[in-house]
Amino acid sequence: MATTVSDLKTRADEAVREIAAAADDAALEVARVRYLSRKDGLITAATKELATLAAADRPAYGQAVNEAKRRIEAALEGRQAALRSATIDRSLGESVDLTLPPRRVRLARMHPISRTIREITRVLATLGFEAVEGPEVEWDYYNFEALNIPRDHPARDKFNTLWIQSPLGDDPDRPMLLRTHTSPMQIRVMEQRQPPVRVVVPGRCYRFEATDATHESLFHQYEGLAIDEQLTMADLKGVLYSFARQLFGGERKVKFRPDYFPFTEPSAEIAFDCFVCDGAGVTNTGRCATCGGSGWIEAAGCGMVHPDALRRVGYDTSRYQGFAFGGGVERLAMLLTGTPDIRLFHENDMRYLESV
Ligand code: FA5
Repeated sequence: MATTVSDLKTRADEAVREIAAAADDAALEVARVRYLSRKDGLITAATKELATLAAADRPAYGQAVNEAKRRIEAALEGRQAALRSATIDRSLGESVDLTLPPRRVRLARMHPISRTIREITRVLATLGFEAVEGPEVEWDYYNFEALNIPRDHPARDKFNTLWIQSPLGDDPDRPMLLRTHTSPMQIRVMEQRQPPVRVVVPGRCYRFEATDATHESLFHQYEGLAIDEQLTMADLKGVLYSFARQLFGGERKVKFRPDYFPFTEPSAEIAFDCFVCDGAGVTNTGRCATCGGSGWIEAAGCGMVHPDALRRVGYDTSRYQGFAFGGGVERLAMLLTGTPDIRLFHENDMRYLESV
């Protein structure tokens, strides 16, 4: 049955009452949809009925529809404004206790490992080393083969390797892995640059090994590489001693002793005296867990770059030679912050991380 002009007025009165009583914005929106929605609101339905009326009745009815629409819109607007000013009044009325102490602002700070990487690259920059980065997912070639560690070489055992499936498909001649050290970057950098070269490469390394006070399966290394015309083992020692002195002052003892790496010849290891037992190897509670009782914390491997590696990248070995070193960032961070167990860096206990 067609809506009459008086029906329309009654419905508009109801709408205005409902809108005036809306308690909040959500209720207001429900009312808006019910009366003004283009799809099936009251006004749309009434407008559609216009076509069904006799021509003589249309003007009065059309006017009534317009009037109803105007009243509903005005009611919505009025109620919306009232709700808004009520909210403002409420918030102005809230009392603020000015005597309360301010909330503590938690300042962000850098993780001790990131801080140590910054410190390492800063110190090495003063010695002329430019910081570069390399891939953590690496080819067997760069991680081992190009560093004189072929497949059957026993040195592979020392690098408990995490092999991964290559997204390019597994090619038995081109295995892929998570780099076990930063040394592959020695080759990558030499492939891309001509001497003189002087770079430091900080970054993550991965080994499949049991953790203890000084070993993690994810840790960081920094790799130093210098190639030039007249570099000797004395330059290597000079750089590493200067590096240690800048990091620790004169405090820590430094030990330099022969070692073996297939990609350096001769090779050496650098160690610092243990800060927990002061080099004694024992504490009040027995054998020192931080240095394993040796009194020393092994910090880096190093040596003169093997001529095979230089030849492999096309360097003229009659003219160029150089040195490389690769150390553990966590081990330095332990020494710098007095952290007795490497695992404290990765446990994410904010109380510890904020204290060092
Ligand atoms: C290497 O990784 C060689 N690439 C170092 C090198 C570079 C030698 C350049 C010659 C020339 P090594 O496996 O010893 O060597 O590791 C070097 C340092 O990384 C160690 O002295 C130690 O400080 C750190 N490191 C090794 N494994 C771990 C581990 N699981 N957790 C924490 N730090 C580690």
